[in-house]
Amino acid sequence: MTKKRVLSGIRATGRLHLGNYLGMVKGMVALQGNPDYEPLFMVADLHAMTTPFDPQILKKNIREVVLDYLAAGLDPKSAILFIQSQVPQHVELAYLFSTVVSIARLSHLPTYKEKVKQYPESNTIALLYYPVLMASDILLYKTNSLPVGDDQLPHLEVTGEVAKKMNNLYGTDFPEPKQMKTEGHYVPSLTGEGKMSKSVEGSYVNLTDNLETIKTKLAKVPTDSGRGNKAPEEGGVHTLMTLVELFGGEKKRKEYEKQYQRSGIKYQGLKNELAGAIYEELKPIQEERKKLEKDPEYVEKVLREGAKKARQIASQTVVEVKEKMGLL
Ligand code: TRP
Repeated sequence: MTKKRVLSGIRATGRLHLGNYLGMVKGMVALQGNPDYEPLFMVADLHAMTTPFDPQILKKNIREVVLDYLAAGLDPKSAILFIQSQVPQHVELAYLFSTVVSIARLSHLPTYKEKVKQYPESNTIALLYYPVLMASDILLYKTNSLPVGDDQLPHLEVTGEVAKKMNNLYGTDFPEPKQMKTEGHYVPSLTGEGKMSKSVEGSYVNLTDNLETIKTKLAKVPTDSGRGNKAPEEGGVHTLMTLVELFGGEKKRKEYEKQYQRSGIKYQGLKNELAGAIYEELKPIQEERKKLEKDPEYVEKVLREGAKKARQIASQTVVEVKEKMGLL
């Protein structure tokens, strides 16, 4: 039986936060050791170049994501960890894919338009090409499903279209990959608006935050009187309830929801309990990271081996596609 490949990709733009961890890494880590799955963890460094970047900072950020992945429980014995640019087939396949994607399709994507608005001076070809490279990341490994946030669905759609077109025109056998919904596929922001995001200050808990910092951050989450007919389905209280469920289970959330309808919630108590639960989960990750920081040789070895394994799979796919497209 062939294993189902799942791929996690994180742009190398900084440290991971709780949202990335719950939404992408934790679910993938849980698949390790399951004989039906082959998890791949990628650091998307080329995608980090689609918006303005500083080479020194990029270099540092690539290592940060690697360490965060490993500290969060990635086991190099059962998963493949690699840096995108160390597997040149990503760019090669992306070029071949670009022959079946129209400029109009890419320029109408909401993700592209947002970035152009954010960086009007950097409306580059690399930015427009982002989804093509992402389709290549995914299809190189014939990935069946992947843990991505809902914001990535437009990119997944493009990937599905590329797969279909390539299969129809050239007889390849690319799967149409599906979103893998993890329990934390949408982690709401601490501000109560939108999702936890690296680019929104005050919206996230870092994987490196200590108990005091987590308490301070939770203290700022906007709340209400704590009592009413029904617990709110948006805003700060909703964020707190979601986190309570993620860290304390559904039962705990239900208890608080009942309190909301009856005696009322004392938010300070809830926030303290939640901060403790979050910290309990982060503590071992932080300890592991400290160990890894002291062992750069081990990390380099893991990366070398990961890139080698990824290249083996990737080069087979590229040869196959080149043959079907008449290049070989
Ligand atoms: N675009 C993804 C994000 O911003 C990152 C990414 C790049 C990715 N290549 C990928 C995710 C391949 C999954 C698979 O979250």
